[in-house]
Amino acid sequence: MALDQTQIDAWERDGFLAIPDAIPLARCEALMARAAEIVDAFDPATVSIFSTHEQTRTSDDYFMASGDAISCFFEEGAFDDDGNLQRDKAVSINKIGHAMHDLDPVFDRFSRQAPIAEAARDIGMADPKLLQSMYIFKSPFIGGEVSCHQDSAFLYTDPMTVVGFWVALQDATLENGCLWAQPGGHRTPLRKRFVRSAAGGTEFEQLSDLPWPEPGGSDMVPIEAKAGTLVLLHGLLPHWSDVNRSSRSRHAYTVHVIDGAASYPDENWLQRSPSLPLRGFDAA
Ligand code: FE2
Repeated sequence: MALDQTQIDAWERDGFLAIPDAIPLARCEALMARAAEIVDAFDPATVSIFSTHEQTRTSDDYFMASGDAISCFFEEGAFDDDGNLQRDKAVSINKIGHAMHDLDPVFDRFSRQAPIAEAARDIGMADPKLLQSMYIFKSPFIGGEVSCHQDSAFLYTDPMTVVGFWVALQDATLENGCLWAQPGGHRTPLRKRFVRSAAGGTEFEQLSDLPWPEPGGSDMVPIEAKAGTLVLLHGLLPHWSDVNRSSRSRHAYTVHVIDGAASYPDENWLQRSPSLPLRGFDAA
């Protein structure tokens, strides 16, 4: 067992678990270097976030196709009104998603390393399948808020099985926008689902009117995490992160894992091509 009983009890009670020093720093640094290469090779002209209709549609298509791709997404406000990047590309990217864990050897190895695989096993995931990966930059001054949400809204399965394995690649603090979570909030209902709409694009389907805990309020706790910390997040756990108001970046990587026995709906926004089937933690 990689996790002891105290940790498993905390996971079941709280719906999240932070494991300091789980991931060697050298691996974190290798992943950061690889992400920098991906961004360096990315041509911003391939995607636009501008406001005209056609460009919005192009941006939607780029997002919808990212379930089995390596795609870069910009921060809001990265471009000026004329469509020029206001800052260096490297600090204008919000995230890379959503299939690096299957398409890039460095990300593949990082996602399937023993501490993550063993944590998945120890919390009882019987047939884990790696569904989605995100590299989050949270760059100084521009890194945006991630509003309060439950990951099952975006990565729904029946029954709900998704667990997030989030790794602090750099120290995450109150100043640079660390995670916050609601202890025990994984026992609250799923508020909504993010689905493909019949008209094209995506929409939220409301399931429950239960309010969110106030972001950063007394029902939530900050999860400050040193680089190398692995944080497990239950799919129903309300969590949130603030904007980065500091001068230090807050790079993080997350891989979302579902149980292969659960059904995966066609209306989920994230769809994978049959040529790229989901894989577990076994090496390729
Ligand atoms: Fe999340």
